[in-house]
This record gives sequence, C-alpha cells and structure tokens, in this order.
Amino acid sequence: MATHIQDYRSPKVTIIGAGNVGGTLAHRIVENGLADVVLYDIVLGKPQGLALDLMQTQAIVNHDRQIIGTNNYSDTQNSDIIVLTAGLPRKEGMSRNDLLRINASIVKDAISQAIAQSTEAILIVVTNPLDVMTHYAWQVSGLPTHRVMGMAGILDAARFQTFIGMELGISSADIRATVLGGHGDTMLPLPRFSTVNGIPITELLSQDAITKLVNRTCNGGAEIVKLMQTSAYFAPSASAYMMVESILCDRQRVVPVAAHLMGEYGLTDIFMGVPVQLGKRGIEKVIELQLTSDELAALHASAKSIQENIKLLP
Ligand code: NAI
Ligand code: 2OP
Repeated sequence: MATHIQDYRSPKVTIIGAGNVGGTLAHRIVENGLADVVLYDIVLGKPQGLALDLMQTQAIVNHDRQIIGTNNYSDTQNSDIIVLTAGLPRKEGMSRNDLLRINASIVKDAISQAIAQSTEAILIVVTNPLDVMTHYAWQVSGLPTHRVMGMAGILDAARFQTFIGMELGISSADIRATVLGGHGDTMLPLPRFSTVNGIPITELLSQDAITKLVNRTCNGGAEIVKLMQTSAYFAPSASAYMMVESILCDRQRVVPVAAHLMGEYGLTDIFMGVPVQLGKRGIEKVIELQLTSDELAALHASAKSIQENIKLLP
C-alpha cells in the first residue's frame, strides 16, 4: 500500500537582519525544527556564514531544517512569516527614539522589498523604537492590521517575571506578569495582573518592593546595554520565537504584543503593547483588561508618547 505525502511544504520564516537578535532567532527556529529559515542581511557574506554554521549543527543536534543566508530578497519568496530585526541597536546613553530616523529608512527599504516577495506573510517587527517602527512597517507593507505586530511585551513581561522571581526566591516559571503600553520608558507593568500561580504579587510583596521591581523592568533594556554596550538578544529572540511558534502551530497563545488598536482601551489607530490571542491568522483577537482609571491614564500617557514619535516618521 502506497503512502502519499502530498504537497507538504515546510513553513518558511524570513529573518531580515543577521545580527544578534536575527542570528539567535534563526538558531532557535532551526534547532527546534519549527521551520526553514532564510536569513537576509545587507552585509555580504554575514548571513551566508551564519547559515553555513547553523546548517552544520544539523549533524550534531539532529534537526532537518534548511537555512539559507542571502543578500537577495528573491530567496525570501513565499515566506509564511517575516521577522524584521534589521536596524541599529542602542548604545549606552542612547534612547530607543534616538534610533528612530535611521531605523525608519532601513524599515522602509526592507519591508517594501520583502513584502513584494511574500504578499501573504505575517510580519513581526523587532526593530526599535518598537511601536513606531511597527506602525511604519504596517504603513509601508499595506498588509491588514491582524498580520502586523511588534515584539516587546513578551520580553518586558519576562523581565518583570524574572525580577519578581529573584525577589521572592522562587522560579519565574511559576510567575505570570503583565506589561502593557509602549516598549520604552512609559511601559506599564501591572502588579494587579501579575501573579504567582494565581496569587497577585500585591499580596506577596510590599508596595516599596513592587515599585523597585516595576522600575527595574521599565529600565530592563538599558540595564543590559549599560553592562555589555549593546542590546540584549537571548531573551528578545526567545520572545520572537514564542510569537513565531504560536502563529505557525496555531497555538492561540495569549501574549502581549504591539497590536493595532481600533477603539480598544479607548485608543485608535496606534500600535502598542496589549494582550492578544496569536494564531495562524496572526492576531486573532485583542484582549481588553478592565483597568482602573489610574492604569488607563498611564496607558494613555504611553500612547501619547508613541503618537508624538509617529509624527517624526518620514
Ligand atoms: P545587530 O547590530 O546585532 O544586528 C542588526 C543587523 O541588521 C546587522 O547585521 C546589520 O547588518 C543589519 N542591517 C542593517 N541595515 C539593514 C538593511 N537595510 N537590511 C537588512 N539588514 C540590515 O542588532 P541586534 O542586537 O540584532 O538588534 C536589532 C534591532 O532590534 C535593533 O533595532 C534593536 O534595538 C532591536 N531590538 C528590539 C528589541 C525589542 O524588544 N523589540 C529587543 C532587542 C533588540
Ligand atoms: C531591549 O529592551 C533594547 O529594546 C531592547 O532590550
């Protein structure tokens, strides 16, 4: 009896930017057998070298995924997901917004070329300043809003979870934290929605201790930049991986991402961090939490700072 495997095609993920975040994301995707990867960069030889290095892990860690390194967008054709990590990272003393103008020109060039090759793709933006670049990438791409999103909330929540775990001396695997808003100084860690196996941290820690953890979370990216003179990449690539996996495997995970809001939380036509359900269509649903008036005011302040930066876009 013949067995037919018909029309099977491995999922294809294009990563634009073969730097620290892009390279470590490619590593996670192929070693976990999630998808074939095309790694694109403008620097000649860099993505090809990384791809060859990663292909050689096949023989050791036993994965079958293909990885291509390229300087040519035609190799990215028919990607299911495009992850944009191209752009400058922050240096010490630089805000994410300092990066705005230079990264906007990179985003425009990269997105217009990549989407022309993959009109049905879902787009995940990592490049900073995150919320503004996600907005710009959406405008340049012409994609429907449910197929465009930014990665930051999973990372910011992971930082909050880590700091809560360190403070309580317990595993961060048992902690769920919620962080809303823009990926910047105005992000909004929400202690009321952050729990240890269901117990709100407001019942486990003093207000003073929580304030310190919240401040450390808001400063979480800069703390790492100060230590190593460039920005983080292990936790950022793990966060982007979680999004890619939830989409490709249609897991319907509920995670915070920068999503387009049309009235949710009283905000319109802005990308910013909110919990969403992620599945094969991209953002399947934006989830609205019942916020207090203070929390809502802080979220609107975060939105205002994003809107001011959107005005700086070309
Ligand atoms: P990196 O400097 O290691 O890599 C950036 C790569 O982009 C380089 O290989 C560079 O050659 C490439 N590149 C530059 N212009 C390009 C273009 N026009 N087309 C294609 N590739 C191009 O930087 P890293 O650490 O990987 O960070 C990348 C971006 O992600 C930065 O903007 C950084 O701020 C941001 N980031 C965002 C996070 C978030 O939570 N959303 C977390 C960590 C980083
Ligand atoms: C981070 O939060 C720099 O956005 C980057 O690590």
